[in-house]
Amino acid sequence: RTAYVNGVYVPLRDACVHVEDRGFQFADGVYEVCEVFGGRLIDETRHLARLKRSLSELGIGMPVGEGALKVILRETVRRNRVRDGLVYLQVTRGAARRDFVFPAADTPPTLVVTARSVDRSKAEAGATNGISVISLPDNRWERVDIKSTGLLPNALARQRAKERGAKEAWFVDKDGYVTEGAASNAWIITRENTLLTRPAESGILRGVTRTTLLDLARRDNLLISERPFTLAEAKAAKEAFVTAATALIMPVVRIDDTVIGDGKPGALTTRLRARFHEVAE
Ligand code: PDD
Repeated sequence: RTAYVNGVYVPLRDACVHVEDRGFQFADGVYEVCEVFGGRLIDETRHLARLKRSLSELGIGMPVGEGALKVILRETVRRNRVRDGLVYLQVTRGAARRDFVFPAADTPPTLVVTARSVDRSKAEAGATNGISVISLPDNRWERVDIKSTGLLPNALARQRAKERGAKEAWFVDKDGYVTEGAASNAWIITRENTLLTRPAESGILRGVTRTTLLDLARRDNLLISERPFTLAEAKAAKEAFVTAATALIMPVVRIDDTVIGDGKPGALTTRLRARFHEVAE
C-alpha cells in the first residue's frame, strides 16, 4: 500500500510525519473519510466543502489547491488499486517547536492521504443483521461541527461499545437527547414513518452521508423531521440506523438492552440503503 505525505508517494510502512507535528502533539488538524465505490469518490464535492469549512474554522490554510487535492485523492486511490473502499485525508497545522500558540504563518500544513479497499460482502452481511449500539453521556467539546482529529472521546466510546458487544455508541446530551454516534450520525423512524435526525446546527457533525440521505428522502417525499430526539424515543422507535461514509446506512437493531422493532433491520432503512448510490454523487 502507498500513502501520500507532503508531496510524495511512499510505501505505507515508511510513511511518517515529524514528531513535532501539531497533529501529533495537539490534535491540531482535521480530516475527511470518503467512500470509494466502483473506483469513484462518492460525494467528493461535499467532503471537500466540509474540509474547507473545518480548516477555515481553525485558521489552517488549504495545504494545496482544490484541483491538486482532487488529483492526489485519485492518484492515491489508483496506486492502491481501490475499487470499493475508503480514502482518508488529514491536514494539520504543520510541524513546529512545541508551543500552544500557532506557529509562524508560513509554516506549511501537513497533508496525508491514504486509501484502502473494503470487503463489500462483509459490509453487506453487517447490514443484513443490523448492529447494536450503546448509549453514553456526550463528553465531547462544543465544536463537534469541526471534523477535527481530536477523537479521544470517540475512540473511548467505540472501545466501550466493543467491550459490550456493540458496534457503535450513541452520545446523549445532558437533557437526554441523542446527539450522534462516535463516528456516525444517528437516525430513527417513528411509528408514523417519519425520519428523525438531529439538526446539524447543534451538537453534531454535519455528516455528508446524512445530507445525501436527506436529499434521497426528500426526493421520495418521505416525512422528515430534523429535530432532536431523546434516547427514550429512540428505544421506542419503529426503526433506527446510523449514517457515515464508512457504513453508509447501517440498521440499528438494539439500543442498550432494548430491541428495536422486531430485532431485524427495518424495511424503510433497508430500502434507503439499497438506493443510496442512486443519489450519491
Ligand atoms: N466519521 N459524526 C461523527 C462524529 C463522525 O465521526 C462521522 C464520520 C459522522 C458521519 O459523517 P459522514 O457521513 O460525512 O461520514 C458523523 C468518519 C467516517 C470516521 O471518523 O471514520
